[in-house]
Amino acid sequence: MARTIVITGGTHGIGKALARHHTELGDHVVAVGSSEEGGRRLREAAPKARFVRADLSSVRRTRELIERLGTEHPVIDALVLAAFRFNPVRVETDEGFEHTFALYVVNRWLMAEGLRASLENAPAPVIVNLCGAGRGGRIHWDDLQLKDDYRGLTATMQGAAASELLGTAYFSERTKYVLYNPVFVATGLHEPFKQPLRGLVRVASAMFAQPVAKAVPPLAALIDHPPAKPLTTWKKGKPIDLTVDRNEARRLEETLRAVTRSVGRRRSDRRGGS
Ligand SMILES: NC(=O)c1ccc[n+]([C@@H]2O[C@H](COP(=O)([O-])OP(=O)(O)OC[C@H]3O[C@@H](n4cnc5c(N)ncnc54)[C@H](OP(=O)(O)O)[C@@H]3O)[C@@H](O)[C@H]2O)c1
Repeated sequence: MARTIVITGGTHGIGKALARHHTELGDHVVAVGSSEEGGRRLREAAPKARFVRADLSSVRRTRELIERLGTEHPVIDALVLAAFRFNPVRVETDEGFEHTFALYVVNRWLMAEGLRASLENAPAPVIVNLCGAGRGGRIHWDDLQLKDDYRGLTATMQGAAASELLGTAYFSERTKYVLYNPVFVATGLHEPFKQPLRGLVRVASAMFAQPVAKAVPPLAALIDHPPAKPLTTWKKGKPIDLTVDRNEARRLEETLRAVTRSVGRRRSDRRGGS
């Protein structure tokens, strides 16, 4: 029977390649991206995938999407979290979050929690969080929104560390949570940078990065046969051990609940995340 696979960031890079792979197998793929250009790319690569446009850095838009997907798809077999944007300079969303935190942390938490019911209805449900797990990032508890000292890499590493905590905090008897670090895949990683860094990243990518097509089979295998353990961590197709502080995982969940609670109310009423 055809499965339903939701892929955030399914319009470019690894997400798009995965969308293509699964539509070719006959699965029903819903790919989410923020731009019409992404929708066009997806139609070219995977004409049978369904494109849904939504800005996932927005809590409001994410909640609307969850509502829509939950209604339209009472059964979701796999949720792949791959939406990402590298921000060389600090960007703040309309809702007051640092953009990387909004997309990489808040959105992934909301999607996994919000689609829980549809996932639980599937025979072998799995969440695959594509992230930089195992890279040793940390949470900047005293300045979560990185207002004082923003660097693109710091925000990215914080998002990777947060993914580890989100996977640890996620509890389900049935849905398996997979943290998957693809390590270095040639998806246009040079694009956000200015010269000369742009040129350097492009050369490094050409020399060392894995082609996108090669990154797909190990990921698809985890969707086809989710691991038996509730949480597993993988680096480029190989399982790795990860030690995560459960108290920190709970703290992140509580913080996310608090900072998103008032989104949608007047901005002055909202409690900040830092
Ligand atoms: N590539 C690597 O070497 C590497 C290494 C480690 C981890 N990862 C992780 O793997 C995942 C996929 O990486 P990738 O390199 O394949 O990514 P990518 O090619 O940069 O694609 C990112 C995707 O996210 C979507 N997106 C960006 N901002 C969005 C927003 N506000 N709302 C909705 N969608 C948004 C983009 O579509 P639009 O532009 O249309 O919005 C696109 O489909 C990421 O989570 C990344 O952290 C990648």
